[in-house]
Amino acid sequence: MKKTTILGTGSYLPSKVLTNHDLSQILDTNDEWIVSRTGIRERRIVAEGQTCSDLAYEASLKALEDAALTPNDLDMIIVATLTPEKRLPSTACLLQDKLQAKKAAVYDIDAACSGFVYGMSIADQYIKTGAMNRILVAGTEVMSKVLNWKDRSTCILFGDGAGSAVLGPAKTEEKIILSTHLFSNGSLYKLLEMPAGGTAMEWTPDVFERGDHLVKMDGKQVFRQAIESMAEASRLALEKFHKTIDDIDLFIPHQANSRIMDAIAKRLKCPEEKIFMNVDKYGNTSGASIPIALDEAIKQGRLKKGDLLLIATFGAGFAWGSALIRW
Ligand code: ACO
Repeated sequence: MKKTTILGTGSYLPSKVLTNHDLSQILDTNDEWIVSRTGIRERRIVAEGQTCSDLAYEASLKALEDAALTPNDLDMIIVATLTPEKRLPSTACLLQDKLQAKKAAVYDIDAACSGFVYGMSIADQYIKTGAMNRILVAGTEVMSKVLNWKDRSTCILFGDGAGSAVLGPAKTEEKIILSTHLFSNGSLYKLLEMPAGGTAMEWTPDVFERGDHLVKMDGKQVFRQAIESMAEASRLALEKFHKTIDDIDLFIPHQANSRIMDAIAKRLKCPEEKIFMNVDKYGNTSGASIPIALDEAIKQGRLKKGDLLLIATFGAGFAWGSALIRW
């Protein structure tokens, strides 16, 4: 069996910044409340006309450059998004066209905020078995288009952005995906959903009036589930390799909320300096959160050869998971 390595990463954030102060001009909220409850200070918002595949395109160009590859080297593109550009075709097809990745098979996956880790796990299987050689996995979200901007308990949390990674068979022992662990519990789907927009609920004026086409969330329940699930998935990944949190050099949790990350760290007894956080700058970018954080951590020199990286993810569904990577 082959081993999968990370050949390159890239990320892209739209330039428009929406601060907590900006939000306080349109909502009954304030910077102090948002920062103390979430750690978020600002988030990015797409420019007029900028789409989900545009963001993924920018991030993917950087990932390909980092990997010293061209779009023609790609065998497959997997796009993880809960904000697809269209219902048909897949955002992956639109990205494939923009990249002109002529040899790539492409498709979208929807595991909400956990989409990138699910996509990485899928790509890992293709590469390990030798079925595919070069796979680009992109997490890309235009959350600003699916938020209810009148609901102050949800719209303050999210932001737009994209991150990509190019994966391939390892020639050395560097940047190896050791394992991925995926979990789900669909019985809790109502805690975080967009009720309309699929085939279950017709698009009626009532739907729009109620905001049923937008993100609805029971924040308190999601908060609790996110902590328990990410802590448990992290423990299982460590146990599988007979490791403890002391063996981990960097921990990248899903960038949902700094209080969630702090609580997981406390449960795992993970020292603060080992946790990567950028939620203050970008908010929760859903499926793009992990690849953006991974790319920034790498570019900031937070990972050196031989380091052990733990990733934990959680999102609507619920779908959650973890990954261990030997740098
Ligand atoms: N500004 C000011 N006040 C607010 C705001 C706001 N933006 N939002 C809510 N409030 C008010 C509420 O109305 C409530 O007022 P009340 O007491 O008069 O009724 C009060 O603040 C407390 O509200 P709570 O909902 O109890 O606040 P809580 O401490 O639970 O924080 C939050 C809310 C931040 C949403 C929290 O529950 C949370 O972080 N949940 C997790 C959400 C999340 O991260 N989801 C995504 C993870 S999964 C994924 O990424 C898809």
